Amino acid sequence: MPIWFGGDYNPEQWPRDVWDEDVQLMQRAGVSLATVGVFSWAKLEPREGEFDFEWLDTVLDKLHAGGVRVDLATATASPPPWLTHAHPEVLPVTVDGVRLSAGSRQQYCPSSPVFRRLATRLVTALAERYGAHPALELWHVSNEYGCHVSHCYCDVSADAFRTWLQTKYGSVAALNDAWGTSFWSQAYSTFDEVYPPRTAPTFRNPTQLLDFDRFSSDELLDCYRGEAEILRAATPDIPITTNFMGWFKPVDYWKWAAEIDVISDDSYPDPTDPLSPATGAMTRDLMRSLRKGQPWLLMEQAPSAVNWRAHNAPKAPGQQRAWSYQSVARGADGILYFQWRQSVAGAEKFHSGLLPHAGTDSRVWRESEQLGGELAALAEVVGTRVAARVAIMFDWDSLWSIEQGATPAQQSYFEGIFAWYREFFTRNVMVDFVSPSFSLDGYDLVVVPSLFVATAAATENLDAHARSGGQLLVTYQTAITDENARITAGGYLGALQRTLGVRIEEFAPLAVPVYSSEIPTVELAGTLLGDASGELWSEYLHAKGARVEATFTTGALAGWPALTRNDVGTGAAWYVATRPDAAARGRLIEHLLGEAGIEFALEQSGLEVVRRGELTFVINHGAAPAAVPVAGTDVLSGASSPGLTLDSQGVAIIRADS
Ligand code: GLA
Repeated sequence: MPIWFGGDYNPEQWPRDVWDEDVQLMQRAGVSLATVGVFSWAKLEPREGEFDFEWLDTVLDKLHAGGVRVDLATATASPPPWLTHAHPEVLPVTVDGVRLSAGSRQQYCPSSPVFRRLATRLVTALAERYGAHPALELWHVSNEYGCHVSHCYCDVSADAFRTWLQTKYGSVAALNDAWGTSFWSQAYSTFDEVYPPRTAPTFRNPTQLLDFDRFSSDELLDCYRGEAEILRAATPDIPITTNFMGWFKPVDYWKWAAEIDVISDDSYPDPTDPLSPATGAMTRDLMRSLRKGQPWLLMEQAPSAVNWRAHNAPKAPGQQRAWSYQSVARGADGILYFQWRQSVAGAEKFHSGLLPHAGTDSRVWRESEQLGGELAALAEVVGTRVAARVAIMFDWDSLWSIEQGATPAQQSYFEGIFAWYREFFTRNVMVDFVSPSFSLDGYDLVVVPSLFVATAAATENLDAHARSGGQLLVTYQTAITDENARITAGGYLGALQRTLGVRIEEFAPLAVPVYSSEIPTVELAGTLLGDASGELWSEYLHAKGARVEATFTTGALAGWPALTRNDVGTGAAWYVATRPDAAARGRLIEHLLGEAGIEFALEQSGLEVVRRGELTFVINHGAAPAAVPVAGTDVLSGASSPGLTLDSQGVAIIRADS
């Protein structure tokens, strides 16, 4: 099996005489996998119940003859006009009660029985027709679930929500208890009185919001499941994927990943953002982590510019290659794009394609051709793993809860995760992400940024990690509520108070001045951190057995603990009551890596160094040339290191000389 190379192929946008040229050019570019039919429902079923497969037969046969494998989409992501015209109740409704129109894409309510019935009929027909096609490599269910419509507030959704709640709670009394409906006269006497959390006069019930987020993710998962079950029954040996969208808030990918054979991701970091190499790496690491290290596919990226930002800068020369190797280094077994041939009509005609409007005499084509050729020669990478000794805990319940509003402070959970992740990235230390229920065995350092919602099982998991010899770093805003959004029994941090040896008396988030974009800070000091500032947050914290490693030094909090360490079992549990500034975060992370016995090298020059299997990938994201800091031979160029220098966007893949 090669490293897959290719992308979305939409032949229905082109006359037939282009199809042969497509296949020839795919061969020239080294395309090995094409995702076909993602938005072709209207073409496959032009009228309700009337199927036209002839064109797709031809396309698949041509691809097969050309040696291109097919990732066949179920085509259900964009219901055709006849469907929404005949069944307008399928159209989704926003939180404000606006029914969305057709004429774009993803115009369906995930709970709609009509949509599901018609979607599964199409999928059944596709599975029957193409299940045995020799080009079929992978099934691609729908497209980017929840991208445009993740929550639907229509009456059909309201009924489905009630059923979901009934299954979850069993009785309305249990729901009232979990939701705390004694507050603001919200007690329900039957499930019929419960609605989705539509726009209301002021704050809506937090547990209702959290349950609706869970329900909405589950409804989309049910749509996926409905299609996947048909495909699995028809073709048990063909793997199934659906494309994710990185750190996507509405869908709980931990839960979904268990039901997906191959994780795949669509990723569009901003080519002009200097943080993109780090945010990109964080996304790759999440994708690899979703199925505990299993290789994944970069299902979509842009060959150059996208069309959906306000200003769509192209990728710099070499950038798509450098970023592609970042994915391979971090566990991807396929590099695919949106899309093969740049469209000439429709909303994405200004989105780059592997085959641009300018044709093959273009930078984008030449760069793609080069990469396709290189990846074809790298089969030895396929299936190899990436090892990490550091884990960062991440959780969708916490994301949904912390960003609800009516909380102590408005915070971005992703930004909080990234702040800690980045310190590992700049030191070239590999990180896995873990869900609160994952085993932490094998990790020497676990970082827990603001795990706002924590179950008793999650806090036990963290406690066991520290007691059995691990380093554990827990930040402020962790275990504030249980899974029902109720304040944790025993007070903030719950059972972690004992693990960490601290007690929180009161939160003191730092106010953001109305007319300032600056992050508010508070001063702190300690031997380990030196003089530093804390960002966004502070609190009145008591050390109850923990050693105080840093204290706040100014204002009302002067003298109160900011960083503590508690030795438990054979490990240590650290708590930080603010977010130390970047330099201090770096010092703290270096100290914890030292305690955990993990080596690191602070890379000032923008060099990313990642070990996958037996190979070390070195990528120069910096502007200046940089020397490869690993000894061996570059499998891409045959050059030896030391003595090998990479230009900006340059890549080397080093095999140690034996
Ligand atoms: C997403 C979609 C594609 C296309 C691209 C454009 O990833 O899946 O169909 O719209 O965005 O960037």
